[in-house]
Amino acid sequence: MHCLLLYSSRDGQTKKIITRIAENLRRSGELCELRDLATVKTINLESYDKIMIGASIRYGHFNSALKKFAICHQQQLNKMPTAFFGVNLTARKPEKRTPETNVYVRNFLFNTPWKPDLCGVFAGALLYPRYHWLDRIMVKMIMKMTGGETDTTKEVEYTDWQQVDYFTDDFLKIVSEK
Ligand SMILES: Cc1cc2nc3c(=O)[nH]c(=O)nc-3n(C[C@H](O)[C@H](O)[C@H](O)COP(=O)(O)O)c2cc1C
Repeated sequence: MHCLLLYSSRDGQTKKIITRIAENLRRSGELCELRDLATVKTINLESYDKIMIGASIRYGHFNSALKKFAICHQQQLNKMPTAFFGVNLTARKPEKRTPETNVYVRNFLFNTPWKPDLCGVFAGALLYPRYHWLDRIMVKMIMKMTGGETDTTKEVEYTDWQQVDYFTDDFLKIVSEK
């Protein structure tokens, strides 16, 4: 059976993270299917025996497709081994990089009927030159308020790739136990 890996990504960082996880899982012998959550309108989850979903934050919110998917598929999701991770820039601060301390992930988990077996938070990337000018101004303002990078010529990747690899290991452990 296949492992389904779904992502919701605007600027590519969440896709990059879940692609790395897929590579790790494939090296461990798992058959993985990677898909964009936005394009998954109808899907039969019967073909999968484990699922991971990763989603990023934009202006305080995950893509609404995440909540819809979790509600629509809650019964099947809660029956099989599942993992969820959130990606955002608040998590560039290590103390805000756990499901309990990251406000976006904590709120999502509190409000969704889906109870993932494993949850994580990863720091994303700050890609000023690639943003629309208005987004660049807004993100710079958020960064200034929170003591972050304000040089808009810069691109900074905060993702801790070792943390991503450990997350894959934890997922494999859960899969083997459940
Ligand atoms: C327009 C915009 C708004 C964002 N809003 C937030 C936010 O409210 N909180 C936060 O922690 N990060 C915020 N971020 C940071 C993103 O979550 C981060 O860049 C992440 O890597 C994006 O992942 P993606 O490329 O998979 O979409 C924002 C980024 C952009 C470009």
